Formats: sequence, C-alpha cells, structure tokens
Amino acid sequence: DWKMQDVLEEQLKLIQSTIGPTEHAICALSGGVDSTVAATLVHKAIGERLHCVFVDNGLLRYKERERVMSTFEKELHLPVTCVDASEKFLSKLKGVTDPEEKRKMIGREFICTFDEFALKLERELGKKPSFLVQGTLYPDVIESCPPPGSGKGHSHTIKSHHNVGGLPKEMQLKLVEPLRWLFKDEVRKLGELMNVPVGFLKRHPFPGPGLAVRILGDVTQGDALEIIREVDEIFINSLKEAGLYDSIWQAFAVFLPVKTVGVQGDRRSHSNAVALRAITSEDGMTADWYQFDPKFLADVSAKVCNSVRGVNRIVYDITSKPPATVEWE
Ligand code: XMP
Repeated sequence: DWKMQDVLEEQLKLIQSTIGPTEHAICALSGGVDSTVAATLVHKAIGERLHCVFVDNGLLRYKERERVMSTFEKELHLPVTCVDASEKFLSKLKGVTDPEEKRKMIGREFICTFDEFALKLERELGKKPSFLVQGTLYPDVIESCPPPGSGKGHSHTIKSHHNVGGLPKEMQLKLVEPLRWLFKDEVRKLGELMNVPVGFLKRHPFPGPGLAVRILGDVTQGDALEIIREVDEIFINSLKEAGLYDSIWQAFAVFLPVKTVGVQGDRRSHSNAVALRAITSEDGMTADWYQFDPKFLADVSAKVCNSVRGVNRIVYDITSKPPATVEWE
C-alpha cells in the first residue's frame, strides 16, 4: 500500500523532529490496537527513548496480561514495563456498585499508577520525560470536540469514557498523537506495514474499565471475575472457531448478580446467570445485536454450563443500541 507507506515515512520524520534527538517519551499501552500501533510507530522513530507501561488493573480478560506482554516483547520488541496494580484497584473497588463511580475510581487509580511509573522513570533517567504518546484516532478527535449541532460527542455525557484525554494536566507532558488523522482501518494498515500481527490488529475493542463494567454491581463479589473470564474465553474461542469473530464488532459475556435454579447431573443447583452479547457496528455509536444461528448459541451455552463452575443459565442479549448501550453498565 504505497499511500500508507508514505504516511508511515512522513510520520516517522515528524515524530523525530517533534521529539528531537535527546528527549524521552512515555506511552501507556492498553493492549488495544490504537495504543499498540502508536507505540510501535514512535518506537521506530526514537528507539529506546520510548518507555511504555502496561497496567494490570485486575479487570483484564483471561490470560490477557500474559498474551499482550508476549506480543509487546517477543513480536514487537517494545520497551515495556508491566505494573501489577490489581490488588490496589480491586481493594478500591470493593463495595462500589454504581457504574459511573466505578469508572471514576478506575480513572483515578490509573492516573496514580501512571504517575508512579513516570516518577520512577524520571529517577532512573535523571531527567523528566517530556512527551506522552497517545493512540488518539480521528473519530476520537471529532467526538471530543464535535462541530456544534452535530449531535456527536453525545456518548461522553452518558458514560465518562476515561481513556480520551484522561491524564493529569499537571504532568506537563507534550502530546504526541501520530494517529490523529487516521481512521481505524488505516491504523490497521499502518500496523500491518510495521509487522504488528494481523490477528492482533483485528481485536475487538475493549473498554478501559474492563471487566468492571461487565460484572453488574460489586466487581469483587464471589467468583465473578473468575467466572466472567472463563465464559468470555469460551465464547470468543467459539466465535473464532466458527469463523465469526471478524464479522462482529464486539462480543463478550456479562456477569449477572442473579442466582437461578437449575438441574446439573442429578442435582438441583442455585447458581449464576450469565449474559452473552454480540453486536455489529460501524463506530460503536449505534449497534445491532448479532443474529447467530441458534445452534451456535446452543453449543456455547452447553459448553459454558458444562465447564464453568457456578453458572447454570445463559441468556443472549437481543437489544440494539439504541435503546440499550453496548455495555450493560
Ligand atoms: P456504550 O456502552 O457506551 O459503548 O454503548 C460504546 C463503546 O465504548 C466502549 N466503552 C468504553 N470504553 N471506557 C472505554 O474506554 C469506558 O468507560 C467505556 N464504556 C463503554 C464499549 O465497549 C463500546 O465499544
């Protein structure tokens, strides 16, 4: 793709001239496509003067930390520090049930963790890093400063998405946003040009607050985190095996704080219900629920109930957006 090759070379020069020959930059990797492509690009431009951090907030999916760290280190050779802050996040979230309260708590905790990383780095380098790399895309730019009367930017008033511009102003880091003129499909092309694995570039979007908005109520209740990780993993693997993953925008499981009666083996059970959600969408602003072949859903349901302890009922969400949102919280 000659056009993307040009964009790549142009961006590399631009990043080099912006950051200069001696300054350092930091980047928080979320495990998603955008921050990964942005970091890979800046790494190409300034090498080891880029310092990435990946925060395990305890709200990640099944084996997510191991999987993304392996991609970052073994495949992309990014200089990345993994900070395990899961206990800190989870202890703060104990007893918190309001969705917005959860988001705010997670946003605050993230900033604290990031600050600590930046300070430690400053001590190691003997100087302050002066740039912050972010994977902001063109639609994020439009959405956060919408033209008047466009009706865009709306979702921010419904849910506080903390991953756009969510870092403390007092850090005085200058922003480097090399993807701010690109759409998602262009970012994927750019990633491909830099040898980011194609499977990684096709990952579904995942919310910053992670599983906290997929466990209704208290995130720390019972085995909720463990259960939702296992169900999600089974669902996603089934989608991949059926060749459906790439035609779906987002798919996931939701832990319901509801116990229902079942019969498992020759015994009566009183266990949790879990909801599955899969949608198609262009941009996440509106979405349609995905119409699976019933046999697919039956297979996933049987697999989950047979192998995940503590689950005896699966329901499928047949609501589009609007009137529902994508996430349940
Ligand atoms: P909703 O649920 O608002 O989701 O219809 C639209 C898209 O945004 C994601 N989402 C979030 N992403 N922080 C994020 O980074 C959040 O707090 C958040 N809430 C929802 C959701 O997964 C979907 O892709």
